[in-house]
Amino acid sequence: MLMDEFVEKYSVNRYDTNSLKWDALDVRYGDKDLIPMWVADMEFKIPEEVQQALNERIEHGVFGYSYTPDSYYQSFINWQKKRHNIDVKKEWINFSTGIVTALYWFVNIFTEENDAVMIQTPVYYPFHNAVLDNNRQLITSELKNDNGSYSMDLDDFEKKIISNNVKMFILCSPHNPVGRVWTKEELEDVLSICKKHHVLVISDEIHQDIILGDNTFTSALMVDKKYYDSLIVCSAPSKTFNLACLLNSHIIIPNEDLRTVYQQEVKKINQTETSLMGQIACEAAYNHGEEWLDNLLEVIEYNYNYVKNKLEKNAPKAIISDLQGTYLTWIDLRGYITPDDTKSFIQDRCRLAIDFGEWFSKECKGFVRLNMATDPKYVQQATENIIAELNKL
Ligand SMILES: Cc1ncc(COP(=O)(O)O)c(C=O)c1O
Repeated sequence: MLMDEFVEKYSVNRYDTNSLKWDALDVRYGDKDLIPMWVADMEFKIPEEVQQALNERIEHGVFGYSYTPDSYYQSFINWQKKRHNIDVKKEWINFSTGIVTALYWFVNIFTEENDAVMIQTPVYYPFHNAVLDNNRQLITSELKNDNGSYSMDLDDFEKKIISNNVKMFILCSPHNPVGRVWTKEELEDVLSICKKHHVLVISDEIHQDIILGDNTFTSALMVDKKYYDSLIVCSAPSKTFNLACLLNSHIIIPNEDLRTVYQQEVKKINQTETSLMGQIACEAAYNHGEEWLDNLLEVIEYNYNYVKNKLEKNAPKAIISDLQGTYLTWIDLRGYITPDDTKSFIQDRCRLAIDFGEWFSKECKGFVRLNMATDPKYVQQATENIIAELNKL
């Protein structure tokens, strides 16, 4: 399908649908007339086959306690193999009603109060909250930023692990918000440091399917089996297929001992059923959603290139990080704006609702994160507004 056809077929107006992104602008930004480019979901309807599977269940009309069929596991296992060459065994798979929820469980289960937990900043802010809300020490290792190209600062990472006696590391792979798809070598480096110092690794791979250009996603599961004794991997169809509020995520634990501890402990804090509609949607998406996803990736790439080319030409001091993975573009505006003025510039002048850099790291005031998984008309308007307002400065 051509990109325009996809946009035409799947774009949808989200006003008045209880959308956090569209209907909570007033509450969150104090202004309901902004162009919403913030929350990481999309303005695209799910694949037709997924909609049909959900419709059939709605028609059936019964939403009682449910059971996860073998066909579900098979669709997940096939997807992981086909898209990412990951070998997953059925017994490794556990469920949660969201990855953020699961991060809170991991912190509770595998660390004690005041234990140290490591994250690499700037990073998705619920990583910070999962640690701080549970009264653990938050240890941050800032990624190295070389003119918008990000890499891990492994010296700093290891030193802080040792000096703080870190117990757990939450890895973001691909990395929200800087858009990196970590290479196998980078993952090997970070996993080996964690193994050496007995640090449990949680690899949040929710963005695994949103891979752009010629980048290849490597799961922490595929680095080396020797890391399995202290590795938990999370993934979900929620970013990929716009299913976040159907609350169905996967927690993959290959090591039997670790899995047993997890299962024994999680039942003390969670007795929630799996999500029936989430699993119906996920199975249909993994079985029939590939073409839809490939079309979506074209739209994301088109939108990203649009912003990048326009800004490079008209606002050359803005630094746009390479978008290897995720649909979130990370831009450093400090060449034009003093960090303290970013909010008023973006909201009051550009009329945009975006994620501000300081939400991800206190070092990142003056950066903005824009969502590219939307109708190109919004991306074009947002870009025009930014360029027009920068030109007025
Ligand atoms: C890295 C990362 N993890 C988790 C989530 C949210 O996951 P969930 O909706 O399953 O809690 C997001 C959403 O943007 C994310 O970027």
